[in-house]
Amino acid sequence: MCGIVGYIGKNKAEDVLILGLKNLEYRGYDSSGIALTDNNNIEIIKSVGKIKNLEEKLKNINLDKYNIGLAHTRWATHGEANLVNAHPHSSGNVVIVHNGIIENAKELKASLINEGIKFNSETDTEVVAALINKYLDNDIIKTLSKVIGIIKGSYALGIMIKNIPDKLYVIKKDSPLVIGIGKDENFFASDICAINMFTNKFVFLEDNDIAEISKDKINYYSNGNKVDKKVDTIDIDVNSKSKNGYPHYMLKEINEEPMVLEKTLKPYLEDFSSIPDLKGYDEIHIVACGSAMYAGMIGKTLFEEKANTKAICEVASEYRYKNNIYNNKTLVILISQSGETADTIAALKKAKEQGQDTLAIVNVKTSTIARLADKVVFIEAGEEIAVATTKAYLLQVAIISLLALKLAYSKKLIDNIDNYIAEFRNIPKLVKNVIDRENEYKKIAKKIKDSENIFFIGRRYDYAMCLEGSLKLKEVSYIHSEAYPSGELKHGTISLIDDKIFVFCILTDEELCEKSISNIIEVESRGAKTVIISRKSLKQNRNLEICVDDVSQFVISLLVVPILQLIAYHTAVNRGCDVDKPKNLAKSVTVE
Ligand code: G6P
Repeated sequence: MCGIVGYIGKNKAEDVLILGLKNLEYRGYDSSGIALTDNNNIEIIKSVGKIKNLEEKLKNINLDKYNIGLAHTRWATHGEANLVNAHPHSSGNVVIVHNGIIENAKELKASLINEGIKFNSETDTEVVAALINKYLDNDIIKTLSKVIGIIKGSYALGIMIKNIPDKLYVIKKDSPLVIGIGKDENFFASDICAINMFTNKFVFLEDNDIAEISKDKINYYSNGNKVDKKVDTIDIDVNSKSKNGYPHYMLKEINEEPMVLEKTLKPYLEDFSSIPDLKGYDEIHIVACGSAMYAGMIGKTLFEEKANTKAICEVASEYRYKNNIYNNKTLVILISQSGETADTIAALKKAKEQGQDTLAIVNVKTSTIARLADKVVFIEAGEEIAVATTKAYLLQVAIISLLALKLAYSKKLIDNIDNYIAEFRNIPKLVKNVIDRENEYKKIAKKIKDSENIFFIGRRYDYAMCLEGSLKLKEVSYIHSEAYPSGELKHGTISLIDDKIFVFCILTDEELCEKSISNIIEVESRGAKTVIISRKSLKQNRNLEICVDDVSQFVISLLVVPILQLIAYHTAVNRGCDVDKPKNLAKSVTVE
């Protein structure tokens, strides 16, 4: 998703901004641009495609004198990914960069066109630039407050005004924005990672805030009134960006799974009482997007099967608009790596507005969700850079599984808790063993690489793993794949099965093993080539098999999913895909 970064200070703005943009690349983008000013002139340079294309253009221009600037990576929403639609956008004396979506842009644009204002691009952002320019007044805070009252939607906006060359302005609503405070220099960005190499002092803006940023001073306004803001000191390991010799971040991050599992689980296993006890709740709603939602599906199954507690798991983009019925004492669990996914934030706000208790499972400690939820359990994934999540997903599963274990124990549904704790303790080692068998998965990846369609089938827990395996495969390799509950095959999918199709069959749910074996036989008898992941070998000759350790249902998905991640990774590599940045995808989906 779009990322913005701004700089005002003593150094060459171009260098700071380009480095900032590179650190925002992980969010996904299709064009980029920069606006620089020295007290007289504003230069705007944009480019389609990767940031290196923008750097090529910048090489031919001497930009040494510019100490103030705005920069942007654009992930197209309104208008195609071309040079005209790339940010920054300008109108009259106003130049802006924007992350978010202005929902009433169409109406606003029509009325501005009626007034004779001309537009170059198809973007909603240019409409905001025109609006700020229209209401430009000596009192910029008044101008921006007026514009905040007119525009609807989500935005983090960086603003440069021609006649005010020594200040930058930012406004924000429902899109993340952080200010970085330096010595005789200040910064802002969509994500702390774009500026944390320059400072460790940050201010997180709230919705409807305005900041007026000079190089040695920042004034903050909320609803038009000057306010003070809390400055947070946050030290972040800036070396986590290295690939450590791996060809891709995705592979590096999968290999980090044993280490981050150890780090995340250790405090809870040492002190079981530190795991939140959900015994007081009759019902659990798990809400998230993408892989985080699929991690939630494993949690939902565990809450129901092992802790006998009603649980639903829903995508946040649906939950935020639904009539969610809270009959009993309900806990709403939000799961998010970034803590900035727009739909998950909206679902959290809605649950809070409706008086429900909320608990978030989050990786980024400084994120909006971490700040808004009533309770937070952090995963310790460190920075995850590959767009397709791997290590953060696994930690989300680990934490929600621990929550289910604790609940089952509190409700006296299991007694041998020490055995389970020992099993969780052993998990990092077992995951390492799984990853060490990479050659087996490489062979499978080679076999499936020319497929056009792949299916994943499983029941209950296994179906939840299938959903993640299928998503991972299609997002990085671009092979169409679908996950189906095995029992549902006969109601449609089976008509697509023939001898060209690979079907991944996950078979770890012991209670349903026999049923799932029948489904495997069904697809095999229609010619499908099967890849079976199970606890014990089925000893059939026709299929490919991977066996995993015979551990409890609380932890088995932690052993199965890394296999699916590695198969997806190697399939994508074999097909020559841009593994870490699949086309059209964004790491952090900060707009609806
Ligand atoms: C994007 C990413 C996914 C991620 C999802 C939710 O779609 O590509 O990998 O699972 O967002 O992100 P979150 O940060 O909320 O976990």
